[in-house]
Amino acid sequence: MRFENKTAFVTGGGSGIGEAAVVALAARGARVVVADVNIENATRVARSIQDQGGSAMAVPVDVSDASSVDSAFNAAEHWYGSTTHLLLNSAGILGIHAFIDYPVDLFNKVMAVNVTGTFLCAQRAGRSMVKAGYGRIVNVASVSAVRAGIGRTAYGTSKAAMVGLTRQLSMELGPHGITANAIAPGPVVTPMTEASYTAETVEAYTSMIPARRLGTLDDMTATILFLLSDGAAYINGAYLPVDGGYLASGVGKTGTLK
Ligand SMILES: NC(=O)c1ccc[n+]([C@@H]2O[C@H](COP(=O)([O-])OP(=O)(O)OC[C@H]3O[C@@H](n4cnc5c(N)ncnc54)[C@H](O)[C@@H]3O)[C@@H](O)[C@H]2O)c1
Repeated sequence: MRFENKTAFVTGGGSGIGEAAVVALAARGARVVVADVNIENATRVARSIQDQGGSAMAVPVDVSDASSVDSAFNAAEHWYGSTTHLLLNSAGILGIHAFIDYPVDLFNKVMAVNVTGTFLCAQRAGRSMVKAGYGRIVNVASVSAVRAGIGRTAYGTSKAAMVGLTRQLSMELGPHGITANAIAPGPVVTPMTEASYTAETVEAYTSMIPARRLGTLDDMTATILFLLSDGAAYINGAYLPVDGGYLASGVGKTGTLK
């Protein structure tokens, strides 16, 4: 897969899944925009891509803020003199807290970043893509969209909303040569999960995942790049688990038979 002459805007590009994807896109010829609220990380990632001979710029963005999103896209499109062809919405926050006293401010914040942020970036990118008659949007949802987890009141709700939003995008943007899909990573080793998973959580996940391991950034990148490629033109509105079989699995997790 090559992405020459494509401009890719990646939110959350300063860390984890977004960082891995933006590096892989640049290595395959894309002009990339590393967009993150953490501008130090975004700048580090963009510089390292430039050092490898790639085309990269860092831009600060708070995806939950409409004017910040607009400024970031304007800066990127001006810098490259190009419309946005590819959008990866990877910016996200967890906000773990018990349901019974889940703070409404935290709930609203998680929804603002994960859902409103995806909406705002897809809408801004979508306006450019509709004019160009081409676009690829990938939203990083989660298995949490369909499987509950302790403490994930807002996170799980936000990821389910992202899947619904993706379907809306696929219907309204599809006629313009644009696809919108959501991926559902299972647990992946990234700074986000390293900060929140206990050894017990990792062991529990490993025993429940048929592949018997957590996901890697390479697992995520391979799927994201495919959905962003020309070859994925007829995949639209999908919710694709990238989870080693976690969502598919049922009883009998040890694999022993009577
Ligand atoms: N790591 C996993 O196991 C896993 C599993 C399923 C889904 N996901 C999803 O994948 C995405 C990326 O997760 P990750 O593990 O790479 O996390 P991460 O914390 O490593 O990266 C998230 C990035 O988003 C940025 N960000 C946060 N709020 C932002 C905002 N308001 N505006 C712009 N940028 C903002 C952060 O600065 C960070 O660079 C998230 O949406 C997450 O929900 C992760």
